[in-house]
Amino acid sequence: MIQKMKGTYDITRDIGFYLEIEKAIRKVSRLYNVEEIRTPHFESRELFHRSVGENSDIVTKETYDFEDRGGRVNTLRPEGTAGIVRALIENKLYADPRTPIKRYYVGSMFRYERPQKGRFREFRQFGAESFGSKHPSQDAEMIDYAMNILRALKLKNVRVHINSLGGEASKKTYKEALKAHLEPHLDTLCQECQTRYETNPLRILDCKKDKDKEAIKTAPRTLDYLTKEDAAHFEALKSYLEAMKVDYKVDHSLVRGLDYYTHTVFELQVSEDLLGQQNAICGGGRYDTLVEDLDGPPTPAVGFAFGLERLIVALKENGFEPLSPSLHTYFIIMGDTARVKAMSLMHRLRTGGITCDADFTERSMKAQFKQSAHQNARFVVIIGEDEVANGTVNLKDQREGIETSVPMNALYGTLMERLTRNTNAGCKDCKEKGES
Ligand code: HAM
Repeated sequence: MIQKMKGTYDITRDIGFYLEIEKAIRKVSRLYNVEEIRTPHFESRELFHRSVGENSDIVTKETYDFEDRGGRVNTLRPEGTAGIVRALIENKLYADPRTPIKRYYVGSMFRYERPQKGRFREFRQFGAESFGSKHPSQDAEMIDYAMNILRALKLKNVRVHINSLGGEASKKTYKEALKAHLEPHLDTLCQECQTRYETNPLRILDCKKDKDKEAIKTAPRTLDYLTKEDAAHFEALKSYLEAMKVDYKVDHSLVRGLDYYTHTVFELQVSEDLLGQQNAICGGGRYDTLVEDLDGPPTPAVGFAFGLERLIVALKENGFEPLSPSLHTYFIIMGDTARVKAMSLMHRLRTGGITCDADFTERSMKAQFKQSAHQNARFVVIIGEDEVANGTVNLKDQREGIETSVPMNALYGTLMERLTRNTNAGCKDCKEKGES
């Protein structure tokens, strides 16, 4: 039997979680005036080398690269930001007079990582990016936006971790200070960090293997190396967060794994008991030079992305239950003539917004009743040869326990009346479940 590829999974039972999350994303994104954008699942390999970074873990070890029949080297997107930036430049979205330009996206990302709890090879992200503002209030708004998604899903116990890497000048002085500090301790660090010392020293700070080592604990802090202007940006961010009552923790070890970050970096973390070391359900930050690095006009930017699978683990732990859609009507059909009538009646009901289903085999009445119970329909409509002859159907209201004979041409009106009873308009069941 052919099986799914390692690190991937079929969404069978959890589809309700994805739908509820997507509903919250669309609702909250509207509140922040953020529009959706959809970009391809694969891009040129070069795009990720020039954005995520030649020496990042993602590019060195984790991309799915393939050459197509035309000899082009493609990469399955490991993250969303690079593709959005490419789309911004290619479609000249930056020329839109409505600035900052804010876009969100939802979709699969692909990383060849060692699968474990909260870490997959195909996973889904919801991300959002804002282009055109370098103001710290924009960083704060994005953090508040991310937190508001969680509020909409009633997820508690999430901590906001923030830090600042500063702009290019601050980053450069910090990197030199960090390297000088680490040099005498190099042989105490893991093999990977010894390589990172040359290629990507900042990443040593958030190495899970080395995090408790003396060299890391005593490492200089990025905040102490910020230029005056960069420090002011970070202070302003904190005051905006406080104004919005967003609790945060300054986390000196937070540097993030992608090369494009400048200034603010942040993560939303849940407890390690839930997701172990993969406890960041969202990560983001500012990337003021990326648009220009990819040949666009100088455009400051800030964004974030949630990992939906990790978010779902946290939601489950929090007792979140997605609403299951309700079936209004189940048809029990006996005989061929009745089937023709039933098909026509179901068409009429569905056209008017009433959900229906039936047994599309020719099972016994008993088996069909059993099926109607599995389907948990509010109404059961029974139609056989006698009903066809009388122009009626037998209608059972399972909730009220009432059975009546209803003329076929009055079925839609009767069902609508019962479904909307005690509500001003629309179906009560649907309203309770937030459907329309
Ligand atoms: P990232 O931190 O690489 O950032 O990923 C964001 C989130 O995606 C993580 O916090 C995590 O929840 C989830 N995630 C990452 N890798 C996996 C995996 N293998 N399996 C399951 N979930 C995973 C970015 O991707 C940036 N593009 C975020 C950003 C947007 N920065 C600015 N704008």
